[in-house]
Amino acid sequence: MRIILLGPPGSGKGTIADELHERFSFVHVSTGDLFRSNIKNQTPLGLEIRSYMEAGSLVPDELTIRLVEDVMTNGNLGDHFLLDGFPRTVRQAELFDQFLTSRSEKIDAVVHVYVPDDLIKERLRGRRVCLNCGKTYHVPAHPPEYADVCNACTGLLIQRKDDNADVVAHRLEIYHKETAPLVDYYQKRGLIVDIDNSGKFADVMLDLSAKLKLG
Ligand code: AP5
Repeated sequence: MRIILLGPPGSGKGTIADELHERFSFVHVSTGDLFRSNIKNQTPLGLEIRSYMEAGSLVPDELTIRLVEDVMTNGNLGDHFLLDGFPRTVRQAELFDQFLTSRSEKIDAVVHVYVPDDLIKERLRGRRVCLNCGKTYHVPAHPPEYADVCNACTGLLIQRKDDNADVVAHRLEIYHKETAPLVDYYQKRGLIVDIDNSGKFADVMLDLSAKLKLG
């Protein structure tokens, strides 16, 4: 099954993707994680995109689609994967459709995760991420066992640079302007599966599993 996870920053795409990976063995492809890894390793792409990401702006479409096409071509994804945070503009979606058509492939579902902006701001204020393995926590809702230490790998927990209040406001503004039109784009193609992630996570996963007919 090939799935796109679409939703505002902090709506829970990464958390849902991790759960679907653990429970249903989906390969998780996050463009945000791939970009962050390029920045960490100081690759030419990483140097080019750093300022966009720190400001909470979108990386240009051409760089993004090139990265995704490379992963899809060389990444051994098989046909059971999740694209988390891609596409994010109508232009990216159109280019991606062309790419899929050239490979005689298609997306099976686009999971539209929604959460009110105020709750997103609260969740991103409390989010902590492991510098080593990327595992996500929330203080105080889902804290690590020991302060600032990852339960899984003992790596240091940090707050992402783009999680400060001003940058979050900018990311939400961009989402509503550039990315939200994709809900309509994929609705017209009959692919949208709506998921409200403002409630208890276990209930959200039950709802999603049922809608996607998983397990
Ligand atoms: P990216 O890393 O993808 O960031 P994002 O889309 O802004 O999403 P986040 O990772 O911030 O949040 P999330 O939805 O995964 O939420 P999470 O699960 O962590 O992208 C970063 C940047 O990369 C972009 O700004 C852009 O510059 C660039 N980029 C990436 N893709 C691009 C593209 N296609 N085109 C151009 N540029 C691109 O959850 C948030 C918090 O909520 C966590 O603490 C979690 O524990 C908590 N939580 C989740 N669900 C629940 C629940 N039900 N109850 C309580 N807490 C919950």
